[in-house]
Amino acid sequence: MNVQIVESPAKLDTVGADFVAALIGSKPSATVLVATGQTPMGLYAELGARYRRGEIDPRSIRAIQLDEYFGLSEDDPRSLYGWMKRSFVDPLGLDPDQLVRLSGDELDPETICRRYDEAVRDAGGIDLSILGLGPNGHLGFNEPPSDADAPTRLVSLSEESIRSNGTYWGGQDRVPRQALTAGMNVLLRARNTLLVVSGAHKREILRRTVHGPVTSEVPASYLQDAANVTVLADRDAWPEDVTFN
Ligand code: PGA
Repeated sequence: MNVQIVESPAKLDTVGADFVAALIGSKPSATVLVATGQTPMGLYAELGARYRRGEIDPRSIRAIQLDEYFGLSEDDPRSLYGWMKRSFVDPLGLDPDQLVRLSGDELDPETICRRYDEAVRDAGGIDLSILGLGPNGHLGFNEPPSDADAPTRLVSLSEESIRSNGTYWGGQDRVPRQALTAGMNVLLRARNTLLVVSGAHKREILRRTVHGPVTSEVPASYLQDAANVTVLADRDAWPEDVTFN
């Protein structure tokens, strides 16, 4: 794991955008998996600003969805695809044919997951996965316990995820109880991963992610054994007693 600690959330946004811009610069047809959640929002806004200034060219990238609540209609304001569209797809001017989605109202979950896995494979796998860290160590909605080979699937949200997702939608009652998530077996195969972590409330789970045993109880800890993982954390999120070279 590479670790980069920055002074502030604002710095996390610019350093994170530098990282994504460099990847897109070196591979214009990169496939980029895009998490929602609060942490990467400033990074995406920064990328959008760079696109408007003509500093990056995302015309050939593919954007891959990470997860989606199950059972919502396409236009439900809580749709995670809708959030991805507002925060990443539209600000970067991406077209629908540049997207791999993890949804499909009319289909059963197994079919949606199978088609998603096939589409990721057909796109050549994931060049860069931009992930946030769940308060319980989840990646996407791979809730603990999730093994390294957990597939793309329908899951029930943990209490912790319902609590944290409640902050997005005005209360826990508004949080769907089930979701589709890219599997650990998809995420751990990404050629590069950028894990963005912000705030003191993430410090203990970040410690267990980078420093604790690799365990299904902290799915993000599997990143310790994955290729080319960069942890980008602000000072509040970083456990000071953990040192990295
Ligand atoms: P957050 O969510 O970025 O809003 O903290 C991360 C997650 O729960 O995966």
